[in-house]
Amino acid sequence: MQESTRRDFMKTAGAASVGTAALSATSYAAVQGANERINVGIIGPGGMGSNHIRTLVTQKDVRITHVCDVDRLRLAAAAKNAAQDGREPATTGDMRRLLENKDVAAVFIATPDHWHAPASILALDAGKHVYVEKPCSHNIREGRLMIEAARRARKVCQVGTQSRSTEMNMTAMRMIHEGAIGEVLSVRVWNSQLRRNIGRMKPSDPPAALDYENWIGPAPMIPYQANRGHGIWRWWHHFGAGDMGNDGVHDLDVAVWGLQVDTHPSTIAALGGKYFFDDDQEFPDTQTVIFDWPSVGKNNRKKQMIFEQRIWTPYKIGGYENGCAFFGTNGMFIVGHSEGWRLYGPRNKELKTVTGGANLLAHHRNFFACVRNGIRPAADIEIGHLASSLCHLGNIATRVRRVINFNPKTEEILNDKDAAPMVRRTYRDHWGRPRGV
Ligand SMILES: NC(=O)c1ccc[n+]([C@@H]2O[C@H](COP(=O)([O-])OP(=O)(O)OC[C@H]3O[C@@H](n4cnc5c(N)ncnc54)[C@H](O)[C@@H]3O)[C@@H](O)[C@H]2O)c1
Repeated sequence: MQESTRRDFMKTAGAASVGTAALSATSYAAVQGANERINVGIIGPGGMGSNHIRTLVTQKDVRITHVCDVDRLRLAAAAKNAAQDGREPATTGDMRRLLENKDVAAVFIATPDHWHAPASILALDAGKHVYVEKPCSHNIREGRLMIEAARRARKVCQVGTQSRSTEMNMTAMRMIHEGAIGEVLSVRVWNSQLRRNIGRMKPSDPPAALDYENWIGPAPMIPYQANRGHGIWRWWHHFGAGDMGNDGVHDLDVAVWGLQVDTHPSTIAALGGKYFFDDDQEFPDTQTVIFDWPSVGKNNRKKQMIFEQRIWTPYKIGGYENGCAFFGTNGMFIVGHSEGWRLYGPRNKELKTVTGGANLLAHHRNFFACVRNGIRPAADIEIGHLASSLCHLGNIATRVRRVINFNPKTEEILNDKDAAPMVRRTYRDHWGRPRGV
């Protein structure tokens, strides 16, 4: 690698990464040449998938060769948007056709959550590098299977929590880790949003352009209903993880990063429900979850995280719509999602304020640098699994309305016959159903 390229890479990949571990010694032999364009396939070019396309077409060392969507109208629009040098990519409604193509080196997966793990595991097993949207999984078991698939394939698996590659977040984390606010034992995370009422509806025929059978994939087959469709599937247990897994997961990820915990919590308490919306949404619109870690870190201290969510509040808290407040023995560090951060010393003395936004392009560049160099990315699947599991555990504790005890090693909920089965799900017989679920 040329020295300037290596320096750029260290800036985007190395500095962002908490684990710059090589994927394996052998994977170096198989990595992409420095001058070669990386061929990419997009699976699920809907809302976020279209953002990826817009960002990918600006990168000269990347070529979008395939797009795949089960909605023919979205597929046709995506092909147009993904055109580079006057050429549109190939299109398919079946991800297996994209994955069997040997020219595709990497895939971006931006389907609804219930397809993240099935599609990622198929892609990794087909030898592709994977960039998968957050939350990485629909349930805890799937996240573990994704880690196993990534390690088995020795491929990069980056999760779409772009804060991990955003310079202002990396600086804030470095300062916290170096003791800017003393020892940090506790963090408060909030998600305040104004979402909309999805109404109450009855099943109907799916739109003619939608392959509903494969939109459902390996999830249980239930009839099509318009308020479970594009973009709003996230409020349904079969397909999403509520707003905790939607916007909340970004800040939960920053919270574990700052708190320096690298295991799951052992105890989770929660309360919440539908306090505001009178509609079909299955997830809470109002939710408070407390996570507790027993004796972790270099000082062997207990650590705590509090997550608060209200999705009917059109205003910010402390200047930030979503964010984390890290409480240290000498001060407080507030990190806003996509908005910057503020550092306070003792007696609320404001020491420093930084503004800015999350950097999706930097997260892409980190991914491609890792593909080229055979190392683990900034939001490696193991990191993504930790943050996604917080959403799943928080939602489970809210559903059963009691304190749950979790074994971080076996990833099982202890002594609770209602909560324990919720670390996994039931699947229907479908080609996308992952082995081992
Ligand atoms: N990183 C971020 O900041 C960010 C922001 C928004 C959304 N997201 C994530 O992106 C993902 C997509 O969210 P969205 O709001 O764009 O959803 P969406 O419903 O708008 O788009 C999903 C697309 O996937 C397609 N799809 C479904 N099943 C498919 C299959 N089997 N094969 C191919 N395509 C399939 C759908 O037809 C649709 O076009 C979610 O996981 C969400 O959490 C991330």
